[in-house]
Amino acid sequence: MSSEIIVELRDVWKIYKMGQVQQIALQGINLCIEEGDFHCIIGPSGSGKSTLLSIIGGMERPTRGVVKVCGIELNKLKEDDLAKLRRDLIGFVFQQFYLIPRLTLVENVELPLIAKGVPKKERRRLALEALRAVGLEEKAYMRPNQVSGGEQQRVAIARAIVGRPRLLLADEPTGNLDVESSKKVMDIFTYLNKELGITIVLATHNIELLPYCNRVTRLKGGRIVKTYEKHEIEGLVRELTEVIYHRA
Ligand SMILES: Nc1ncnc2c1ncn2[C@@H]1O[C@H](COP(=O)(O)OP(=O)(O)O)[C@@H](O)[C@H]1O
Ligand SMILES: [Mg+2]
Repeated sequence: MSSEIIVELRDVWKIYKMGQVQQIALQGINLCIEEGDFHCIIGPSGSGKSTLLSIIGGMERPTRGVVKVCGIELNKLKEDDLAKLRRDLIGFVFQQFYLIPRLTLVENVELPLIAKGVPKKERRRLALEALRAVGLEEKAYMRPNQVSGGEQQRVAIARAIVGRPRLLLADEPTGNLDVESSKKVMDIFTYLNKELGITIVLATHNIELLPYCNRVTRLKGGRIVKTYEKHEIEGLVRELTEVIYHRA
């Protein structure tokens, strides 16, 4: 069975201009991500992972090239249509949790639904359901500073999925977490991917996250080195581990 393509990039370039200086963040990216995939973008710091995710998510526009999400060419959308597409189809999780301290956890999760105009009762029901999906329903009425960092990140994931996105973009989501909390977050992503069918694109430099993914695209200096299939991931982990070992 062949899957549908949910993300397609054709010859995508991103060049940042700072006065006289140019910084080429992406150079000629061609990438297809299948619906239902749990796809990792791995590469060292500065390789262009965050730039790639924000271009897929329509937060930044490429300097050149075509970006399609769910068959829609983002380059052709006006700002407010782009914002609507982001709101309806895409969820975001970052290294920072960006929770609002004075709101309860469930109120934080409800926020994206306010922008969508969902009525109050329905908002609360959906937010509690999203909190249940990340195992935090019983802490719904606590505030961010009353729970651990790992739990705050799970709230951020609940907030990202409360609008039922087809695509979840996660940029170094375990970057601020200890090993235990990271494992929990990755188990939640696996659940969202397998059970709810949400396509996940996760950017990281941490090779320990690779075994959770179905495919891995390796970035270096703004270019794709290779996309690895599931059965090649173990070999990639071994290769990257040796690189680190020999450098030490
Ligand atoms: N807003 C920006 N202005 C100028 N340069 C940027 C900007 N964002 C990223 N870059 C540069 O683009 C390159 C890729 O950055 P980034 O996508 O953040 O990489 P990664 O997420 O893999 O660490 C880096 O050299 C970075 O300094
Ligand atoms: Mg980054």
